[in-house]
Amino acid sequence: MYEIKQEKKDDWWDVESLLDLSFAPGREALSSYRLRDGILPVAELCLIARDLNGIIGGSIRFWPIQIGSKKAKALLLGPIAVHPTRQGEGVGGELIRSALELAKNDGWTRIVLIGDEIYYQKFGFKKSGFLSFPPPTNPDRLLYLELKSGAFKGVNGQIQKFE
Ligand SMILES: CC(C)(COP(=O)(O)OP(=O)(O)OC[C@H]1O[C@@H](n2cnc3c(N)ncnc32)[C@H](O)[C@@H]1OP(=O)(O)O)[C@@H](O)C(=O)NCCC(=O)NCCS
Repeated sequence: MYEIKQEKKDDWWDVESLLDLSFAPGREALSSYRLRDGILPVAELCLIARDLNGIIGGSIRFWPIQIGSKKAKALLLGPIAVHPTRQGEGVGGELIRSALELAKNDGWTRIVLIGDEIYYQKFGFKKSGFLSFPPPTNPDRLLYLELKSGAFKGVNGQIQKFE
């Protein structure tokens, strides 16, 4: 049983420890981190799941980004992590669904992420051949989701740091 809440300032280091545990060492060298450097996450969409004892079981964070020559505003989903002993219990899915609903209600229309299509397709994410992510990135892992139908129409090209 988990409670999903917005991540607060005091949660930051619990989340960082969870991310260190869940990802390979050197996670901050990934190209997605270059899009996050010096930019604040979208606080309303950063969620944590704590169990009844207050132990952190999962986390999801989002950053703003922009796309192509139009500098179309979008969200970068991630990092998302569930504690290795709690994976496969639906926590990740619950975090994603909760955050997507909040994002939609807040008026966001476009989301991208780097991840396994097989996992994210159940939330509506699809492979994107019309976007490019800062290297080194496997283009097959670049996925997108429209929270509003047609939101990516005419939006293509390079994913960039938010200005
Ligand atoms: C990816 C992650 C967040 C999923 O969280 P979770 O709570 O385990 O996910 P859920 O319980 O909602 O879903 C579990 C299902 O997804 C599948 N799944 C999990 N990760 C997957 C992946 N990378 N590729 C394909 N399927 C995956 C599981 O096999 C399971 O399938 P089943 O329901 O058929 O048994 C979690 O596994 C994790 O933290 N992994 C390490 C960090 C990571 O890779 N983050 C994502 C980077 S893009």
